[in-house]
Amino acid sequence: MAKPKTLYSCTECGGLAPKWQGQCPHCGVWNTLVETIAATAPARFESVAGARSSVTPLASVKARATSRIPTGLEEFDRVLGGGLVPGGVILLGGDPGIGKSTLLLQAGAALGAAHRTLYVTGEESAEQIALRAHRLGLVNAPIELLAEVQLEAIVAAINATSPEIVVIDSVQTIYTEALASAPGSVAQVRECAAQLTRLAKQRGVIVLFVGHVTKEGAIAGPRVLEHIVDTVLYFEGDTHSSFRLVRAIKNRFGASNELGVFAMTERGLRGVANPSALFLSQHGESVAGSAVVATLEGSRPLLVEIQALVDPVQGGMPKRLSVGLDPQRLSLLLAVLHRHGGVETGGYDVFVNAVGGVRINEPAADLAILLAVHSSLKGRPLPAKTLVFGEVGLAGEVRPVQRGQERIREAAKLGFTQVLIPTLNKPRQAIDNVKVVTADRIDKALAILRD
Ligand code: TYD
Ligand code: MG
Repeated sequence: MAKPKTLYSCTECGGLAPKWQGQCPHCGVWNTLVETIAATAPARFESVAGARSSVTPLASVKARATSRIPTGLEEFDRVLGGGLVPGGVILLGGDPGIGKSTLLLQAGAALGAAHRTLYVTGEESAEQIALRAHRLGLVNAPIELLAEVQLEAIVAAINATSPEIVVIDSVQTIYTEALASAPGSVAQVRECAAQLTRLAKQRGVIVLFVGHVTKEGAIAGPRVLEHIVDTVLYFEGDTHSSFRLVRAIKNRFGASNELGVFAMTERGLRGVANPSALFLSQHGESVAGSAVVATLEGSRPLLVEIQALVDPVQGGMPKRLSVGLDPQRLSLLLAVLHRHGGVETGGYDVFVNAVGGVRINEPAADLAILLAVHSSLKGRPLPAKTLVFGEVGLAGEVRPVQRGQERIREAAKLGFTQVLIPTLNKPRQAIDNVKVVTADRIDKALAILRD
């Protein structure tokens, strides 16, 4: 087989160059050229539908009811939006050792009985997978294994055995002969994922990619990977604790931001059906620098403790560090606290942490972050059994958040007796045994520490 010609394309502007150079000849940006296959094969541009497509009125297109294939793991199905969809391509990212291979082996074992499943391992040998299966009590799992890293061989195996589900563990280890770059490089990851995605769409095969993440937490390799696939899932959680969260960042077949909660046990991952109290640390009595927020990033409310430590600067620049919370947002909130709350943190290091390795992206946590910071600075705890939520705006206003009632109910269920919430979230009817304190401005909210 003649080796396809390669070119270099720019990841910024998409321009092409015949050979590699440091600077893109089209847009002038440096270090953006990556190897790509010269698009000679017409197949590259064939539409997913196959033949030439024609213009059709939307109303005449039959939307097939997507039949979902449940994975046998309820929490995994929840993040997927109810199960796998034929032809769907899923990317599962996460830190090393967090449980990606375990989750997919467990799901594969459950799926394998009714749907032919091929597990392609490029990272571990077939024996290592067998060892894991043994540990999980899945030795007789109806799964087919292929230890292979070459794309062409993987495609040939898929064509020969026609599986319904293919797991690629991991996308960074496979490579195509057509490119000279090393496996794991942007060019290789992009090309291999694109080819397998095309195959998935043509054959209606479900493909699950495992993807590594970089130190910064993004999926290693090109950002385009996230655009190519239908669903992007991230594993979150602290490897020191046994809880693991799987979050849908993007989902063409369901809600994004849905969350599945698991516990890593001796025998693999087990779903946690009622997770709302997992991310609270157990303080005997209230401590300074702690505030509990109810987040609602998926369909379930989750109570999470936010901790802050505010300490005088020991020389040099004040540090701002956040774990599980957006660092930019923290800087912004500290500026609001200064300007509208009259609380100065310029001479202090500020550390904030969402307990248990959860990541909170929701602005509903703003007020809890500010109160935890203020409480640490003052060395005074918030009133006991108090839950806080609310978005904080640049003008110092406390803005309402979605589904406030649900958050308050969840808190009541877990024994919280007071909530501090945005004025516009005030429930019309009283909620059993919960005292509601409202604030429309940040200075009013801070007053809760003075009571
Ligand atoms: P793994 O799925 O290999 O992680 P990844 O593919 O994301 O790199 O998970 C590895 C970790 O999980 C490892 O530290 C051991 C632990 N583990 C258990 O605690 N129980 C189990 O039953 C299994 C299979 C793994
Ligand atoms: Mg693995």
